[in-house]
Amino acid sequence: MSIKRLPPELINRIAAGEVVERPASALKELVENSLDAGANQVAIRLSAGGLELIEVADDGTGMAPDDMSLALERHATSKLPDEAIDRVTSFGFRGEALPSIASVSRLCLESRVRGADGWRVEIDHGEKIAAGPAALPPGTRIRIERLFEKVPARRKFLRSPRSEYAACLDSVKRLAMARSDVGFTLDHDGRRILTLQPSDAPSRVAELLSHELDRHGIGIDCVRDGLRLTGVVSLPTFNRGMADQQFLFVNSRPVKDRLLVGALRAAYRDLIARDRHPIAALFLEVPLEEVDVNVHPAKTEVRFRDPASVRGLIIGGLRRALDEESQRSAAREQAAAPVMWTTSESYEPEPTTADRVARVKEEQRVFEPVTFVPQGRAEPAVQPVGSYPLGVARGQVAATYIVAEAEDGLVIVDQHAAHERLVLERMRAAREGGAVAQQALLIPEVIELDEPDCDRLEGAAQELADMGLDLERFGPSAMLVRSVPAALGKTDVAALLADLAGEIAGLGGPMSLRDKLDLVAATIACHGSVRAGRVLSVAEMNALLREMEVTPRSGQCNHGRPTWVKLGHSEIEKLFGRK
Ligand SMILES: Nc1ncnc2c1ncn2[C@@H]1O[C@H](COP(=O)(O)OP(=O)(O)O)[C@@H](O)[C@H]1O
Ligand SMILES: [Mg+2]
Repeated sequence: MSIKRLPPELINRIAAGEVVERPASALKELVENSLDAGANQVAIRLSAGGLELIEVADDGTGMAPDDMSLALERHATSKLPDEAIDRVTSFGFRGEALPSIASVSRLCLESRVRGADGWRVEIDHGEKIAAGPAALPPGTRIRIERLFEKVPARRKFLRSPRSEYAACLDSVKRLAMARSDVGFTLDHDGRRILTLQPSDAPSRVAELLSHELDRHGIGIDCVRDGLRLTGVVSLPTFNRGMADQQFLFVNSRPVKDRLLVGALRAAYRDLIARDRHPIAALFLEVPLEEVDVNVHPAKTEVRFRDPASVRGLIIGGLRRALDEESQRSAAREQAAAPVMWTTSESYEPEPTTADRVARVKEEQRVFEPVTFVPQGRAEPAVQPVGSYPLGVARGQVAATYIVAEAEDGLVIVDQHAAHERLVLERMRAAREGGAVAQQALLIPEVIELDEPDCDRLEGAAQELADMGLDLERFGPSAMLVRSVPAALGKTDVAALLADLAGEIAGLGGPMSLRDKLDLVAATIACHGSVRAGRVLSVAEMNALLREMEVTPRSGQCNHGRPTWVKLGHSEIEKLFGRK
């Protein structure tokens, strides 16, 4: 066996596999470099989702010609302060991105230091092919073309320009949230997508997250053990089918860290269905020595010295905010504008003993039952009990469960789960029968959505129309809805569309497979169903029970949970020790 050194081109290609796996990751590296170079303004241009062109221009420090050549060499970086790898505050520091990208694309680097002339270097798949003077304002401009063209193994894994574009947009949003003090523009295929003026974090986040968060978001600002968490999260009721609207930052660096994602999920445990996800933009500030950002080539994972306290801060902070909010909205009977976080006041969840005693008292006060008004109602059964398997409605408990008496026991029905199922089965039956009843909207509704979300809905328009949902594209980032499935009744069309888009994205590939439509139908059904919390009349309850009896698969909700349970007479007797 003889051991050989890998040639540098090969090393670069291997590194490219780790650092740049798709256009969005190359774009991310370029924008990070611009931010590290002190840019106040970053202009991004993409073609075909970055597959044809990625261009990033900044007004940062720029590079002198010698530095430009160095920058394209492996492990050359200007970003190691005092050689200390554990104290880096810049995005970069590995010196891998530019040479890696240059080894798998055609790259043109132009740069100009203030007060000097501009210079240009062109690299074709790792080889310098041209260099010379360039005319540009102070700063740096990098163009990448033909990315992965000569790396079939990589090319194979790339998705359509649309999905690559969606990933690019996501990267830009994350960095733009991380650095709200910097202005950004993004153009795709010649169209302006984003124009972001320098501002502060709350406004930047508000601009980039769902506008609905104005009404359905809660501001977060808390401090513990020298860690600080700020940001905004959605109320549990305002959730998504996908975890794609979760933006997490550690010391202004966008991360997709598992610990943080897990803590966010844990904070919503039992407030939100297992397959639903909150929207969040959360900024964690940690002393530099408490966190290692050098554990992942793309720097999206970090390692905390004390993971438990980070987890504790997130879960504790969010839980507290969510509890307070639900307390408040319960008192008001309606959730009104909790809006964004402010940058001033924070609370200390780990206070002195005296504070702790005071807090316990305060909590006791908070949890003291305000006069309790029972919500259960009962009416005498008028119909003979014996003739119906699910019995006759006797009443409703907690405005959520129907209590019915059957010949052989007591039936409890989850009204939302049951109704959701019925709507789904109705839609299925109608689809199989070839005609789904539609209900035209009096005035077509214009719903604003992310461009990728619009793309997804537009791509599925035919299938959705088959289910009674008529929509069409309305400009780059809006959809026009003309009719909804009649089975839906009155519904929040905006929320339905957002959910559907998330669902479709989750399905992966194109929507041609009719099987997958069931999933979409289920999403529609969920929107059309009687919500938990709605008071039903006895007649309505009985109607629901009767429909359940004749509907196939009505015993399970669309998520596989039971829609009703029965306590048989013998089980009741056991409970009371009579048997
Ligand atoms: N937009 C830019 N403006 C100024 N300098 C840049 C820019 N992009 C890259 N550089 C220089 O090139 C070097 C190499 O960049 P890169 O390969 O991304 O490695 P890293 O960012 O890890 O240092 C950087 O350290 C920086 O000095
Ligand atoms: Mg870099």
